[in-house]
Amino acid sequence: MSYRSIAIDGPSGAGKSTLARMLAQELGFLYVDTGAIYRTIGLAVLRRGWDPSDAAQVLPLLNELDIGMRYEDDGVQHMFLNGEDVTQAIRQNAVSQYTSQVSALPEVRAFLLERQRELARTHDVIMDGRDIGTVVLPQADVKIFLTASPEDRAQRRYAELKERGQEASFASVLQDVKERDARDTGRAAAPLRQAEDARRADTSGLTLEESLRLLLDIIKETLQV
Ligand code: DC
Repeated sequence: MSYRSIAIDGPSGAGKSTLARMLAQELGFLYVDTGAIYRTIGLAVLRRGWDPSDAAQVLPLLNELDIGMRYEDDGVQHMFLNGEDVTQAIRQNAVSQYTSQVSALPEVRAFLLERQRELARTHDVIMDGRDIGTVVLPQADVKIFLTASPEDRAQRRYAELKERGQEASFASVLQDVKERDARDTGRAAAPLRQAEDARRADTSGLTLEESLRLLLDIIKETLQV
């Protein structure tokens, strides 16, 4: 039997994870947060105190890492690093910066490529990331490029951090968003870009419910479900 796949790509803070998780529950698909997998590697590099852009240090580490994923009833993808649940730890700001650099290494991307494809071969998936529609699942049934203005995205990230009790100023969050955008779009290996056959969805100024409706309409129209 062949499975269906929905690829959602876009810059950080556009609401990909929240929306993809809600869509997966609504459609009965498996939600795969590929950023969380990259973040688990970023966390491992951060903990060792290594330079995340130094391939000579990072690459030998890959084979030592036991990266696990498990899905809970709430649809949340829990990440495990050598047996430890790091689902919360990978959300720290420092990990975001490390991950952005680690994920620019082509060998790291190659290391995760097959793992992501295997999930799509064995499940109906809704997968979010930066290169899902362009590299990982070029044959995806639906491709969406989800975006919003940098200010909107920084505002959401800022609210999220505050809710978790983490200290940050809006200016520094906006600066982080812009730096990550520049790195994610400017890197040589699988840069963030819209696939030619992807539908663009801009959620600037939209509420969560409005964004969800926009994506559901695109998906239902394309998949005819
Ligand atoms: O979506 P996120 O913020 O959790 O992603 C964290 C970092 O990982 C981000 O800087 C981009 C990178 N990433 C990537 O390069 N490719 C993916 N498919 C997913 C994430």
